[in-house]
Amino acid sequence: MSGSGTSKKWLIISFGILVLTIVYVVMQPPRNSEILPRKIDPEVMGVLEQSTEEQAASGSGQYIGNPDAIAAGKAEYDAHCAACHLSDARGAIGPNLRKRLKFGSTPEKIYESIALGRPAGMPAFGKKLNDEKISKIIAFIESLR
Ligand code: HEC
Repeated sequence: MSGSGTSKKWLIISFGILVLTIVYVVMQPPRNSEILPRKIDPEVMGVLEQSTEEQAASGSGQYIGNPDAIAAGKAEYDAHCAACHLSDARGAIGPNLRKRLKFGSTPEKIYESIALGRPAGMPAFGKKLNDEKISKIIAFIESLR
């Protein structure tokens, strides 16, 4: 008598655990929601890209032909770029910067190459170098072209 009562109790407990397990599994937050970082909102990404383009468009060519800026740009270039592009910019690990450039040769495009990097090994310098430094490096590169 008491034996069958006990097994019924165990059956109810087991069933209860099963139900709780199912509830627990069902209640899990879906993947990709709060736990994993979400993809960057395309609107935010658009604003980021646009701000880089605006910066590029606004000042990237401003120092071209300015001798002081070219000298300052050369110093930055020697410190950050010469290792890969050589101090005369004729290229080594990175391409020759005196020729027509694959990603565009306008100051705006060169700014983008420097600030955002390029896929086959060109690091992004947008965090390391401010707009002014990048624009002076562009003036230096332009002085060689
Ligand atoms: C670690 C090596 C490395 C350093 C440092 C480096 N570059 Fe580059 N750079 C590359 C490589 C490799 C490429 C080619 C990328 C590609 O084709 O996707 C490149 C591409 C470029 C381009 C685009 C060339 C084109 O044909 O459109 C420009 C402009 C450029 N670099 C300028 C610079 C400047 C200015 C600096 C310094 C602030 C610099 N790079 C530092 C390796 C480097």
